[in-house]
Amino acid sequence: MSAEKSVELLEKYIENVNLRNHCYHVCACMKFYADKLGENQDVWGEAGLLHDLDWEKFPDTHPNTAVPILEEAGYGKDFIDAILGHAYPDRTDVPRESLMAKYLFACDEVTGLVHAYSLMKPGGLNDVESRGVVKKMKDKGFARNVNREDIKKGAEEIGLELQVHIQNVITAMKTV
Ligand SMILES: [Fe+2]
Ligand SMILES: [Fe+2]
Repeated sequence: MSAEKSVELLEKYIENVNLRNHCYHVCACMKFYADKLGENQDVWGEAGLLHDLDWEKFPDTHPNTAVPILEEAGYGKDFIDAILGHAYPDRTDVPRESLMAKYLFACDEVTGLVHAYSLMKPGGLNDVESRGVVKKMKDKGFARNVNREDIKKGAEEIGLELQVHIQNVITAMKTV
């Protein structure tokens, strides 16, 4: 697979700019962690980029509808299992077993939180500090559709203290 092909797929299935941006944010975080762990940055980045591929067109069956599309495009089982894993157990029956799956889940919701927080800052992401995000997370009225429990669970699954993970996410998102 190639980065160009994954961008083509993204643009074919996702028109919403906010959703595309979310995919790029998760992609950047996945690349950051792949680099840190010595994993394949291209593969991890593409998993981030394509994890919500079918969300816009098939919200009720996401991410299961993405499977035939990804198979057709030539993506392998580990890649597809990681994508199915990000929605386990609510939407799929594929648990997160690989590192790629665990990191994908851990990078998903938290990017939404950091992005929402950055929109309140005059300097955007450059004004965002992990401590502020952790504090703001307790404000239930803020970014209400972002699932706090999933964010905490994600950090646990990759064995990182929440604030450290959030700092990594901020650093990675600045590269988008
Ligand atoms: Fe998703
Ligand atoms: Fe997502």
